[in-house]
Amino acid sequence: MNDVKLIKGADIVGRGRADVLVRGGRVAEVGTPSAVGAEVIDADGLVLLPGLVDLHTHLREPGREDAETVLTGTRAAAKGGYTAVCAMANSYPVADTAGVVEQVATLGRAAGYADVQPIGAVSVGLAGERLAEIGAMADSAAHVRMFSDDGHCVHDPRLMRRALEYVKTFDGLIAQHAEEPRLTEGAQMNEGAVSAELGLPGWPAVAEESVIARDVLLAEYVGGHVHFCHISTARSVEIIREAKARGVRVTAEVCPHHLLLTDEKAHTYDPVYKVNPPLRSGADVAALRAALAEGVVDAVATDHAPHAPQDKDCEWSAARPGMLGLETALSITVAALGGPGGADWDLVAERTSRTPARIAGLSAHGRDPEPGTEANFTLVDPAETWTVVPTELASLSQNTPYAGMELPVTVQATFLRGRATVLDGKVAEEIK
Ligand code: NCD
Repeated sequence: MNDVKLIKGADIVGRGRADVLVRGGRVAEVGTPSAVGAEVIDADGLVLLPGLVDLHTHLREPGREDAETVLTGTRAAAKGGYTAVCAMANSYPVADTAGVVEQVATLGRAAGYADVQPIGAVSVGLAGERLAEIGAMADSAAHVRMFSDDGHCVHDPRLMRRALEYVKTFDGLIAQHAEEPRLTEGAQMNEGAVSAELGLPGWPAVAEESVIARDVLLAEYVGGHVHFCHISTARSVEIIREAKARGVRVTAEVCPHHLLLTDEKAHTYDPVYKVNPPLRSGADVAALRAALAEGVVDAVATDHAPHAPQDKDCEWSAARPGMLGLETALSITVAALGGPGGADWDLVAERTSRTPARIAGLSAHGRDPEPGTEANFTLVDPAETWTVVPTELASLSQNTPYAGMELPVTVQATFLRGRATVLDGKVAEEIK
């Protein structure tokens, strides 16, 4: 393998057309470098983005390796243009100890396709009763800064307060799955006209919004950082906007599917559209798109939730919530943010890479190429489209809601510390 690469002629986001010389995993020069003997990668017509960073990935290992593993999940990440993913804590066993988070980080390093930053659980076993060993996870070799009971809401206000106070001591954050459980008992989909028509129990928007409103006040009170996972409603946006205007330490992510799909999809009764929080109304989709463009919503996060066939190929009410996201997120983001003149690549880089890297504290990621920075970036063909074929995805699971859809832009190559995890649109067989 050649340690020296010359990426020629890419349109570098934020800079313009230039060549990038990579040596020893880092950017050596940007401009018109000459490098005799370098492996030359022709990037003419391609856009170079800082490698994408996902704040919310379910890798399913340990425990549900029939749905995804750290290896297959990070291969899917690389194929989607990601160089780093934050692995959610709802594994089996739960990532609520230093041992489990270190295991996940080690599996990520061994696979080599993307940096895997484990997220620790807030509460023991995600049960919402006692704080997990947050300090031990923070001090561990996995250096956990972000904690979440995702899949479950930290609904006890006292526990949430203590968690926010605790992580504040090391500048950490709590990523809240905002869902008041008493308001969503038995819920199957968004509460509204479609749920009424179909006779399915509804998950009302206020179950999310009421927790966000409470946690904004708690974060303000203790001076802690709360991050809201997968926000899905227009009113959530307004509460967060107001909180930010007051200077509360609050950040928020939105998922690609909430930027594109609506609860009308439930008419199909296809459980591939069942997700938590549920697909909402067209007005919510419009508000989330606008908030992402504006920056009230800081980042796109996939909530990549692979499920084995037996958990999805069943009736709607028995199916698990969740959908794949890593391999389609960039395309959906471009489609959702795109104006008539095509993608605003600087905005795409901001929301899918630079800002999520900052929120996760991953300082080697989300960086525009400059001499000395790690060579973590992705090359995208802005003119090519592709059709989603579930069996062709790198993920071990196939529960994508975009099957058969033609999506804009393709990932041509992804580089992690200068090594190609994806080249010519194909995932590298192995990373050595
Ligand atoms: C998540 C999963 O499958 O782990 N599913 C989802 O629909 N987002 C957990 C969850 O938030 O329910």
